[in-house]
Amino acid sequence: MARKPLIAGNWKMNNTVSEAVVLAQEISNGFESDWLDHLDVAVCPSYVDLKPVRTVFEFDKLKVAVGAQNVFWEPSGAYTGEISIPMLREIGCAYCIVGHSERRELFGETNEDVNRKVRALVAERIGEIHPIVCVGESLAVRDEGAYLSYVDAQVRAAFAGVDASEAKEAVVAYEPIWAIGTGRTATPEQAQEVCAAIRATLTELFGAECAEGMRVLYGGSMNEGNASLLLAQPDIDGGLIGGASLKAKSFLSIIKEAL
Ligand code: PGA
Repeated sequence: MARKPLIAGNWKMNNTVSEAVVLAQEISNGFESDWLDHLDVAVCPSYVDLKPVRTVFEFDKLKVAVGAQNVFWEPSGAYTGEISIPMLREIGCAYCIVGHSERRELFGETNEDVNRKVRALVAERIGEIHPIVCVGESLAVRDEGAYLSYVDAQVRAAFAGVDASEAKEAVVAYEPIWAIGTGRTATPEQAQEVCAAIRATLTELFGAECAEGMRVLYGGSMNEGNASLLLAQPDIDGGLIGGASLKAKSFLSIIKEAL
């Protein structure tokens, strides 16, 4: 089954509203809308930048999606500082990154937290927000050689209690921690090996038809120089791009590599 690639920019904690609007406008100016016949594109700015960035794309009638970088699973209530799914839905978010390694490492997110977020997102049937579930091993785990079982366990934990009809809305991003922001990209073979293993886990969990339709992205120092070989791998259906998504030129170049 042919999967439509997804190129998603993770802006992390960068760009004030005015900077984000400028970057979105630069992306829009360089974008050819027929690219979206062949692939999906999203940018994931900070919460405060979501609505302004979406407004830029809407004004230009460009169907580049916006996504959040995190969410809380409860719909409302006394959770100071948190953001809910209905809040994201109303401003038109189409994606939400869940379980990014920076959230796991710096903010103590556990596999259980990730699972609650995934379940809350896929349970929302109206105005769906697709989770982009991040998994990936540290350098220590890679060096020990246990990375496939480590990632397998992360995928199983993230999707516990989720059925195939819900899982098919989700995207999985393999992001080896040793490749994030380090300039040390996984080789296409390394990335393909783990993305194929993720699809095998998804096949066990949800059946072949569902797993063949789900997108598995690679993330970790993807840039305009290495994107084409990574994206050519059979089990890599796009990229989650950090640093190289912060400049319109490099982000647009990566998108072109995915066409
Ligand atoms: P990077 O970040 O492209 O800057 O390595 C990727 C990510 O963390 O999603």
